[in-house]
Amino acid sequence: MARITASKTQQPNKPAQENAVSQIREIVRRAADKPGALLAVLEETQRQNERRYLSEEALRTIASEMGESLARVYSVATFYSYYSLTPQGKNVIVVCRGTACHTRGSLGLLQEALSRLGAQSYREDEEASYTTDDAQFTVRTVACFGQCALAPVVAVNGTIYSRMSTARLCQVINALKKGAKK
Ligand code: FES
Repeated sequence: MARITASKTQQPNKPAQENAVSQIREIVRRAADKPGALLAVLEETQRQNERRYLSEEALRTIASEMGESLARVYSVATFYSYYSLTPQGKNVIVVCRGTACHTRGSLGLLQEALSRLGAQSYREDEEASYTTDDAQFTVRTVACFGQCALAPVVAVNGTIYSRMSTARLCQVINALKKGAKK
């Protein structure tokens, strides 16, 4: 039975770590002095990471390169649902489990996404984060996207889908699966 848990964080080797540091330096340099620089740096750092996440090392590097406290960088990275502190699949599906979305069927959407991608079970009382063995997909939940009037809301690779239906979600997943096989 597939377990629905966060993936383990991998420790990068030294050259990879140095490479990641210089990559972040370049991202910080390009974003310097722009409004919302920290958000942009976090977003680009996560986008460039092959497992689409912000490691502790990355957060430390961002804090030191931007002259910010680690606490502030961490609080921003954990406040916004887009950012992930654990490794993710190539495609990320985030299902809102807030009250408005729940009353409009988000549990069914979550269960559909999980079962289509091979997860066998989901306990309603736990936060879901499931990554397929081939690291092509991650399905996770968020407490609220702040777009409750458009419930149920699902984000797929950063694109928000409002009033999502099961049929539409299946179409999106099938299209991504086809893309993954190319
Ligand atoms: S409850 Fe889903 S967007 Fe607010």
